[in-house]
Amino acid sequence: RILVLDYGSQYSQLIARRVREAGVFCEMYPYDIEAQRIHDFGAKGVILSGGPESVYAENSPKINDAVFDINVPVLGICYGMQAMADRFGGKIEASSHQEFGAAIIEKTAQDSFFKGIEDEPNKLHVWMSHGDKVVELPAGFEVTARTPSCPIAAMANESKHYYGVQFHPEVTHTLQGEALISRFVHQICGCANAWTPDNIIEMRVAQLKEQIGDEQVLLGLSGGVDSSVVAALLHKAIGEQLTCVFVDNGLLRLHEGDQVMQIFAENMGVKVIRVDAEERFLTALAGVSDPEAKRKIIGKTFIDVFADTARELSGEGKGIQFLAQGTIYPDVIESAKSHQGKAHVIKSHHNVGGLPDDLQFKLIEPLRDLFKDEVRKLGVTLGLPEKMIYRHPFPGPGLGVRILGEVKKEYADILRQADAIFMQELEKSGWYDKTAQAFAVFQPVKSVGVVGDGRRYAWVIALRAVETIDFMTARFAHLPYDLIETVSNRIMNEIKEVSRVTYDISSKPPATIEWE
Ligand code: XMP
Repeated sequence: RILVLDYGSQYSQLIARRVREAGVFCEMYPYDIEAQRIHDFGAKGVILSGGPESVYAENSPKINDAVFDINVPVLGICYGMQAMADRFGGKIEASSHQEFGAAIIEKTAQDSFFKGIEDEPNKLHVWMSHGDKVVELPAGFEVTARTPSCPIAAMANESKHYYGVQFHPEVTHTLQGEALISRFVHQICGCANAWTPDNIIEMRVAQLKEQIGDEQVLLGLSGGVDSSVVAALLHKAIGEQLTCVFVDNGLLRLHEGDQVMQIFAENMGVKVIRVDAEERFLTALAGVSDPEAKRKIIGKTFIDVFADTARELSGEGKGIQFLAQGTIYPDVIESAKSHQGKAHVIKSHHNVGGLPDDLQFKLIEPLRDLFKDEVRKLGVTLGLPEKMIYRHPFPGPGLGVRILGEVKKEYADILRQADAIFMQELEKSGWYDKTAQAFAVFQPVKSVGVVGDGRRYAWVIALRAVETIDFMTARFAHLPYDLIETVSNRIMNEIKEVSRVTYDISSKPPATIEWE
């Protein structure tokens, strides 16, 4: 395993991703974690990330001596290299020539880090992003690469296995970045290629068995990727000791509840309690049209229903000790950042956070060190249908925020049908996988249409499809006109309560992906 110490670079998370893609487990901690944790981690190598500071500034982040005491190879990237140079007596200065973006470095020595890895003889296309640079090598190091404006673009101390690179091997613009990281973790640190879905599952199952013993575990199953994978993993580990609660809030997509029951209860034999809470949710939402108020009501009602079910189960003499959650690694890193560097704080998910005091569970989070794509691979290996694993995200409040204004059962039923038609046609045409998220939205206005010889006033449905990588910005999907036409015709012909269909051509920003 590899330890990544984070000095605050925007690319830090990418380092952890690349190491894992190379088949090696790693975790990322803030640079200032206690020495004892560095010792306890059992790393076969340490990577120091980049960061925004200058080592010569007062109170700049330093490298904990424990990193060198554990006697393993160390790779410093950008600030990490500068901090290492500083630690061993080198000199760092502000660069008169700041380098940002693509650059070509020339190798000046064949150290074990660079050996044989190049884009053209002795040259590598890399990504630079720095204002400072090492101007004097520390003792024991040699220069292994240079650029015209950065004569010490990489350095190495071969006898200690300490390496520093001024560029960023973790970004894809560094063409051989993957090969360099793989070289470091495999050949230099000696890590085995053990981070595969099968191995992860085997390790997790063993850990869960030991942690849970013969106690009972409760899981809120939403049908989304994370909770589904937790369910499959726990079922494999503890079988009958797992009870899942699936809350049907009346704001789900067409047949969603049936599908969850079929996959988990019927096919896999997982114990799932389906709670039909449609009326409870719709009653709580009656008369409310403010989107944030709707979100809060849906979240709170979910917790109430979940807590009631948990109490009933406990009342049946099934003392439940553990509550499982689908927290994943980006959640952990996010919440660590918001707690100013105190890593590994528990994120309170909207669906299980804030349980009443009389329900005290110990938490189980078997995915808390995994990235989303790792979770997906685990799901597929565990036998969950790919269609479930690779589907578009669906917001917690569900159709509740896709029915503008007040939520009514009549509206939800219409929207479910329209949404299902849109999904069917997207899948049939191959566009489902080419869009990041797509759905229908219910507009509570009546628009005129003609049917036969008469006019009819009926509801309006908007279609929304977007392309995005991170959901922070998005472009409306350029769906073919023929496809939109088919969807529109089907919706207006098959759902008599709809007289008009529109296609949303707004991008984010300034619009958002959801309509509320
Ligand atoms: P927006 O509308 O903010 O959406 O552009 C970005 C992404 O977040 C999802 N989303 C939510 N997910 N609860 C959730 O669990 C919510 O209240 C919520 N609101 C938006 C949205 O579907 C999109 O993927």
